[in-house]
Amino acid sequence: MKRTPRPPLALVRARPGTPYTFTFDGRTLTALPGQSLAAALWSAGILSWRTTRGSAAPRGVFCGTGVCHDCLATVNGRPNQRACLVAVRPGDTVTTQEGTGHGRGR
Ligand code: FES
Repeated sequence: MKRTPRPPLALVRARPGTPYTFTFDGRTLTALPGQSLAAALWSAGILSWRTTRGSAAPRGVFCGTGVCHDCLATVNGRPNQRACLVAVRPGDTVTTQEGTGHGRGR
């Protein structure tokens, strides 16, 4: 007997609300109501949205629980928002955070 693969939403019988849009570094992306920023970025195939202060190494989700602060992003001009904890809101403007997110020398 051949099994037909089902999408993840069907497997958990989820009934999410209507998707909405936000932007990331100028790209228009979609999110589901209540979806974390990290999950929305992952859904778009984006794995990194921060660079480290010293070496500008790329970072994204590490712990996924709000502990490590690797997933920091700038949301609506506010740096240091933990993408694994912040829910995306319609129309949010998200940008890659470089270093501390406060510009050069800070
Ligand atoms: S991934 Fe560790 S705080 Fe977000």
